[in-house]
Amino acid sequence: MCTCVVGVPKERKFNEGRVGMTPALVSEVRELGGAVLIETGAGVLSGFSDEQYENAGAIIVKTPDEVWCAADIVVKVKEPIREEYRHLSAMSGKTLFTYLHLAGSEIELTRALLRYEITAIAYETVSEAGNDGRMTFPLLLPMSKIAGTQAMRTALSRHQPEEFSKLIVMIIGAGNVGEAALRCAIASDVGFVVLFEPWEPRALELKEKYGSDKVVIFPLSMLGNEQTKNYLKVADIFISAPMLPGGKEAPIVLTQKHFRLMKNGAYISDVSIDQGGSTAWTKDNSTKPGETFTRGMRNLVFSAVPNIPGSTVPEEATRSLCAATKGYLLGMVGHQLASHNGDYTVLRDNLSLRMGLQTWRGLLTNEYVMRKHGLISDYCPLDEIF
Ligand SMILES: NC(=O)c1ccc[n+]([C@@H]2O[C@H](COP(=O)([O-])OP(=O)(O)OC[C@H]3O[C@@H](n4cnc5c(N)ncnc54)[C@H](O)[C@@H]3O)[C@@H](O)[C@H]2O)c1
Repeated sequence: MCTCVVGVPKERKFNEGRVGMTPALVSEVRELGGAVLIETGAGVLSGFSDEQYENAGAIIVKTPDEVWCAADIVVKVKEPIREEYRHLSAMSGKTLFTYLHLAGSEIELTRALLRYEITAIAYETVSEAGNDGRMTFPLLLPMSKIAGTQAMRTALSRHQPEEFSKLIVMIIGAGNVGEAALRCAIASDVGFVVLFEPWEPRALELKEKYGSDKVVIFPLSMLGNEQTKNYLKVADIFISAPMLPGGKEAPIVLTQKHFRLMKNGAYISDVSIDQGGSTAWTKDNSTKPGETFTRGMRNLVFSAVPNIPGSTVPEEATRSLCAATKGYLLGMVGHQLASHNGDYTVLRDNLSLRMGLQTWRGLLTNEYVMRKHGLISDYCPLDEIF
């Protein structure tokens, strides 16, 4: 009889309150015939007690080692941090399903995934083709909406509500994070919002939806040129949220040339820090939730929190993340229960999930991670495997 054990360790990243599974998702795995191990206290910051997990059919274990050693599939939220690397040796040939951001993380994590031949599937690159032909990222989307809203709320919290109508906000990269930040700014009645977005159809879509005498949208190529540099000089808040698809490192969109134009004390939130950072001064330089650093002649204030949803609204974030991961996780569990050799034909059958694959049987399957870390000899394109 085949088994499939899903394991959920407690998140170790500073101030991370999310957890990989809700009790409701545990019930669904149990109904399929899988077993679930939850590390004690893993769900507390998301509002889920050990008792709720037990009632849903999970077994509560005392230590992370018990989870990592026994699980066929480890479901996490954030990429393993250094203190968790030692657990990866117990994962040989097993699956890790989580946000990984390997291009934006230190090379040791990728090396460990390769060394222990872990099947590592990154939430952020699981992709589906959208109606407009562009790839969408269903496991990133719910977190991006929360991150955009919370990044804007945190920025606004530095001001009195009566000042909001005088504030000028600039958003660079108008995807899901950018749109959520824009909606929050509009709902908070800020004075003026300027967006920069390189993809024309997206810029047009946002112009149609939100364009007004208080919201303007420019192509990215115009950022800081003669026509737009006055906005850089007067903006109080910058939200930087560009993303290149496929797990590539974030592009740098704000450089010292831009910083020199900004006004004294301007606040810059780099939401793309989880992909390595998107401004010259936050590149590989994250901040903890609630912290900022001040830099430069103009005393610019930087925030670069890699886990905004988990540190601000963990319960809401866990529920929306699990609603998105559920279909993929149940597919993997169902497949593993049905298969006799544990071979992952589920990856062969499910293109969206396959797009999330980063490492498999000691091979690196993400081209951008290979380029970022120079792991050329470990690389094998997905097409050659499946
Ligand atoms: N810090 C956090 O807690 C957190 C949470 C969620 C998402 N994120 C990150 O936020 C970033 C944005 O996520 P998203 O879901 O909005 O992505 P998205 O794909 O919806 O949007 C990204 C946008 O950036 C644009 N873009 C591409 N290249 C650009 C460039 N060079 N300059 C400016 N814009 C460019 C794209 O056209 C797109 O519209 C990602 O890096 C994601 O990992 C961070």
